[in-house]
Amino acid sequence: MLENGNVITTTETKRKPRAVLNQSKKRCEWFVDARFGLFIHWGLYAIPSRGEWVRLLERYEDTDYHRYFDEFNPTAYNPREWAALAKTAGQRYVVMTAKHHDGFCLFDSKLTTFKSTCSPAKRDLIREYVDAFRAEGLKVGFYYSLIDWNHPGYPIDHMHPLQDNATAKAAPRHFDDYLTYFHGQVDELLKNYGKIDIIWFDFSYRNMSGETWKATELVNSIRRLHPDIIIDNRLTCGHEDPCHQETGFGDFTSPEQIIPAEGVTDSHGNPLVWEACITMNDHWGYMRDDRNYKSTTQIVRMLVESVSKGGNLLLNVGPDAKGKIPGASAERLEAIGKWMKDNSESIYGCGVSDFPKPDWGRYTQRGNVLYAHLFEKPVGAIPLIGLGKKVRRARLLSDGSEIDMKRPWNAGTNDDDAFVNLPGPDLPDPIDTVIKLELI
Ligand code: GLC
Repeated sequence: MLENGNVITTTETKRKPRAVLNQSKKRCEWFVDARFGLFIHWGLYAIPSRGEWVRLLERYEDTDYHRYFDEFNPTAYNPREWAALAKTAGQRYVVMTAKHHDGFCLFDSKLTTFKSTCSPAKRDLIREYVDAFRAEGLKVGFYYSLIDWNHPGYPIDHMHPLQDNATAKAAPRHFDDYLTYFHGQVDELLKNYGKIDIIWFDFSYRNMSGETWKATELVNSIRRLHPDIIIDNRLTCGHEDPCHQETGFGDFTSPEQIIPAEGVTDSHGNPLVWEACITMNDHWGYMRDDRNYKSTTQIVRMLVESVSKGGNLLLNVGPDAKGKIPGASAERLEAIGKWMKDNSESIYGCGVSDFPKPDWGRYTQRGNVLYAHLFEKPVGAIPLIGLGKKVRRARLLSDGSEIDMKRPWNAGTNDDDAFVNLPGPDLPDPIDTVIKLELI
């Protein structure tokens, strides 16, 4: 047991002791406050441009896939531009793939040659990333894939590109070698790049979970190096088991491509820390032909919805083989930034409100300040159910102008509710009009 008590000794099935949950909650304070982060999926798969699972989905033999390694040279990579974009968008932290399932490392690991510094890029892409985002004041995280389609010790199972290759399957494979490699790489990532704020493992399935990864040992060693680092829940959780951090390893739950209907709570209904990770189009890694992008309005509302349910949004971009964030993603980040410039007060440090979800949108709340996010304009005055005599002051958040809250003539006599009058056919901001309500 470490002296600072930061050690987690839970097994996968036992509920964590209250003290461990409290430590975790404390570590997550900045994270919960930040609410909005950038996810970056980048690697060799940007070249085939058919998503980051291409090595498995198309059953690449090692040498075929290594062709991409031989040509990988992202000459347009300038993480300072990425960091500036994230900052503009109002994102407060970032998580980038240090290694994805294909096994390619964007950092200068001493344990492999399948890394960016040995490719024509000849650069430690992770070092530049860390420096750039840190310089913009964002908290920095690493995504690290537990699955590895390149390491000779990783089992050839139903999740492996060589699953149809009888010769490869017949050869002995030593999983312990892989564990030594993977623990060693995590150690490198946490020793060589200064203070790291998040480590985001991905992902567990079937028996490839928890102690198969030697998770207790790993987590203890991570905490020894970075007592404050926060860890996602996928050392025990994954696609087939979307469990949360109440029982498994890690500090937060990571729902994927979904915003949980009622947020995430423990078995007693207490809120847990969670972060929804969501793509802008339908892929994590670069996919040139996927133009199915969510609109800026949808993304802002996804963020608001997450916050209104007590969660974070980790919004993904998949840079191309040259190292550029796709134009459609960059445009959206900029547009989100415009909205955030006026309205981020209703996001940072905010969470679930004391009032039920209104018909016209959502509430977020911080202390006695309630933010009404209007997505739709109902006919007539806009009802604030249950807020009668409870509002001291109402202002449009974007410009500080007074909002008329006179009771309309046709609203009956029940004064449990309050009303907002916004004349005109449309809301002032079609993306999300935010009214700041100071409560009595
Ligand atoms: C999934 C995918 C992976 C992606 C991740 C993001 O686990 O396997 O490609 O990185 O989700 O949450």
